[in-house]
Amino acid sequence: MRRYAHIRGWGKYVPERVMTNDDLARIVDTNDEWIRSRTGIAERRIVGETDTTTSMAVKAAIEALSMADCDPSTVELIVVATMTPDRVMPATATAVQDVIGADRAAAFDLGAACSGFVYAYSVASQLVSSGAYKNALVIGAESMSHILDWNDRATCVLFGDGAGAFYLEANESPGGMLAFELGSDGSGGELLTGPTVGNSYKPLCGPDLKLQALEMNGRAVFRFATKIMGKAADAAIQEAGLTREDIDLFIPHQANIRIIESAARQLKLPMEKVYVNIHRYGNTSAASIPVAFVEAVEEGRLKRGDNVVVVGFGGGLTWGAAVVKWVAEPVPVESSGARVARNWFRYQRARIGSFQNRMGHVVDEWIETGARIVAKQKRRRE
Ligand code: UT7
Repeated sequence: MRRYAHIRGWGKYVPERVMTNDDLARIVDTNDEWIRSRTGIAERRIVGETDTTTSMAVKAAIEALSMADCDPSTVELIVVATMTPDRVMPATATAVQDVIGADRAAAFDLGAACSGFVYAYSVASQLVSSGAYKNALVIGAESMSHILDWNDRATCVLFGDGAGAFYLEANESPGGMLAFELGSDGSGGELLTGPTVGNSYKPLCGPDLKLQALEMNGRAVFRFATKIMGKAADAAIQEAGLTREDIDLFIPHQANIRIIESAARQLKLPMEKVYVNIHRYGNTSAASIPVAFVEAVEEGRLKRGDNVVVVGFGGGLTWGAAVVKWVAEPVPVESSGARVARNWFRYQRARIGSFQNRMGHVVDEWIETGARIVAKQKRRRE
């Protein structure tokens, strides 16, 4: 029996702090007219003192799980796509696992830059539809503002922060991801780079060990993006056994409105079939597609049975496209009191569980240290 990974829950989180183009013009030599006309961006969200990549990922994940009324202790897999983890190690996904109380979940991060969510969604979808896992949480979360050079007007005006999540569940009826197309071209790696560790880190960082900021050859990435988006989308559409005419909504990576319009032209899709929210958030890297997808659903742009194409591209160079059959049941807008209470209980339980686990590690450490001391004393006596 063939299985499908249905999207049963979806959620997003963007930081409260809004940074407009005029705000940026006070920091670097730029202006609202240039940014809007060259990129389509009007404002972006920037993490404040309290938001982190993990906290945004958690908020998006909880929203997705709550929508599906899913108990986090039943989640079997968590994949977080990010290039701005709070730490290189441990993975953001394991922090999410702990906070939400997903005691049974495998958890790992996946790095494919701005294509990260399409990669993570493809991997998780395959693991669910193969029968390896019954469900999965896929998250794209980024704090891009932490890796930007705020003196470089060519990059700092483009990016923003946020997170989006899908909760996938195995189902026997057709739906969810029908096909995907992933690709890479490492020869273009130097066109878009971020912070480094290891040998390449040493000469790049100054004496204060400041991380290297994001650097980009904008025109080259622009050329690459306009070439690859249509091609990748076409490949996924063909793999799904569909044609361009079957596509109801196109949700591209929100990097530049001119790139989006070029991809729509290549695919011969009218702009009414293209979802755009770049004016609100800028380029949120791996969070851009899930945030846009969630907003498209919230705005009623999808109805049951619609075929959706998502396409991402970014550093690596990498790209990814997927065709999704939207079969989710309409979700009640208002949460019932019982659901709110259930969620409250679930996340309180997660906090207590996390505390107990942490105490368990401390107690294990005490026991081991005690045993070592006793063994040492015994050896001395002998
Ligand atoms: O997720 C993937 C990540 N990256 C991307 O998708 C980026 C793809 N590339 C792009 O979106 C575009 O190449 C940019 C938006 C980055 C740049 O747009 P462009 O039309 O390619 O501009 P440009 O780099 O050719 O620069 C044109 C002019 C330059 O001045 P001169 O040399 O013509 O005098 C730049 O110095 O615009 C200047 N410029 C700016 N002016 C005002 C560059 N950035 C700014 C700025 N404000 N923020």
